[in-house]
Amino acid sequence: MIHGSHVIVLPFPVQGHLSPMFQFCKRLASKGLTSTLVLVSDKPSPPYKTENNAITVFPIPSGSQEGKDPLQDLDDYIDRVYTSIKKHLPELIQDMKLLENPPRALVYDSTLPWLLDVAHDHGLRGASFFTQPWLVSVIYYHVHKGSFSVPSTKHGHSTLASFPAFPMLSANDLPSYVCESSSYPKILRIVVEQLSNIDRVDILLCNTFDNLEEKLLKWVKSLWPVLNIGPTVPSMYLDKRQSKDKSYGFSLFTAKSTECMEWLNLKKRQSVVYVSFGSLVILKEDQMMELAEGLKQSGCFFLWVVRETEMNKIPKSYVEEIGEKGLFVSWSPQLEVLAHESVGCFLTHCGWNSTLEGLSLGVPMIGMPHWTDQPTNAKFMEDVWKVGVRVKAEADGFVRRDEIVRCVGEVMEREKGKEMRRNAEKWKVLALEAVSEGGSSDKSIDEFVSMFY
Ligand code: UDX
Repeated sequence: MIHGSHVIVLPFPVQGHLSPMFQFCKRLASKGLTSTLVLVSDKPSPPYKTENNAITVFPIPSGSQEGKDPLQDLDDYIDRVYTSIKKHLPELIQDMKLLENPPRALVYDSTLPWLLDVAHDHGLRGASFFTQPWLVSVIYYHVHKGSFSVPSTKHGHSTLASFPAFPMLSANDLPSYVCESSSYPKILRIVVEQLSNIDRVDILLCNTFDNLEEKLLKWVKSLWPVLNIGPTVPSMYLDKRQSKDKSYGFSLFTAKSTECMEWLNLKKRQSVVYVSFGSLVILKEDQMMELAEGLKQSGCFFLWVVRETEMNKIPKSYVEEIGEKGLFVSWSPQLEVLAHESVGCFLTHCGWNSTLEGLSLGVPMIGMPHWTDQPTNAKFMEDVWKVGVRVKAEADGFVRRDEIVRCVGEVMEREKGKEMRRNAEKWKVLALEAVSEGGSSDKSIDEFVSMFY
């Protein structure tokens, strides 16, 4: 252990933020940097060590009732998380300063920008960790600066926005809150405020890799001290020659691993559509049924992740009728599923992790974005990397079954689908290159680590 080689890492406690930040801790551990991962949790437990003692997981109470679904009241959950961090973190840092190997930096979730001052007040460097692509951050930056504004509603507008070296964005491609500022005012404020003190942040870490947003990055790097360290997918999924560690950090849910794999093992190569909307999206009942009908009509096998609380939206009669054609699970081991040869396409909400995972594992995608950065991620997927299609929604946002059938057909059967797969294979190679020894993300991690030796 080298004195001073210790950082604190603090993700916002939702799956899409916990996984990449924990995976980042593992990469740091592989290079000799120890970390304390502060986990805001509704299940209080004593701190414990993992990764050969290189990572200490330090739970602090979220103040929420155990097992309560944060989605029932996201605003309330956010308030509780903030209160808990404000109450517990300063004391924790003070205690850790007395350790033999005291922390030198606080790596905090970019949605908690006020932690920069907490870090500085305690003599630590502040590193903001972004779980979304740079384009999205740049859009929020311009909204924050007041140098970019869009109509208050996206429907009926074809407003175009231009960003450096990126295809023109229609209002439909922008992050949802930016266009529908009235829809989630609190979350809009949070995502825009991520950029409020960006000019003062010591280090900016992002779960992306240099090749993904090459031209925009030139601009971003000319302004801020940026280190791209992604994709934070464990190496074994990117490179079959590597073995062992299949875990992808913390899962807030229990994956039906064996059930998924046994079912997939019985299917032909590239014959299954894997459907998942991540941990935060809730589809309305009529949209769920329309999607179910579309999948049925497509004639393809499908593996669909539907959280237990949502399963009542799918009638029992439908599940019986579908039989072997479809499998419903409440949570899947997503990376294992995407790496399985039976999976031919990924119908995704385009959360940034899912998008990166599909891309890095070479799986063509159907994007059905819902909110936040997802519309912009879908634009990347379809028009920049050309590894999938985005569903066309009606004016009210509803996606019809015929559209699902069209997209599944396009990706699974047509020539265009084969081209998407070829493109996806190309990106898979680039993703592996970035995280392999000497690759751009690997070098960024080395640079980060070297700051603490
Ligand atoms: C959210 C936002 O949508 C995303 O865009 C943002 O940048 C991060 O936070 P979320 O909606 O949960 O995340 O989606 P996503 O980013 O895709 O993350 C979900 C994670 O859960 C992925 O790493 C995925 O592999 C994992 N997952 C999902 C499973 O392991 N099993 C499942 O069944 C579903």
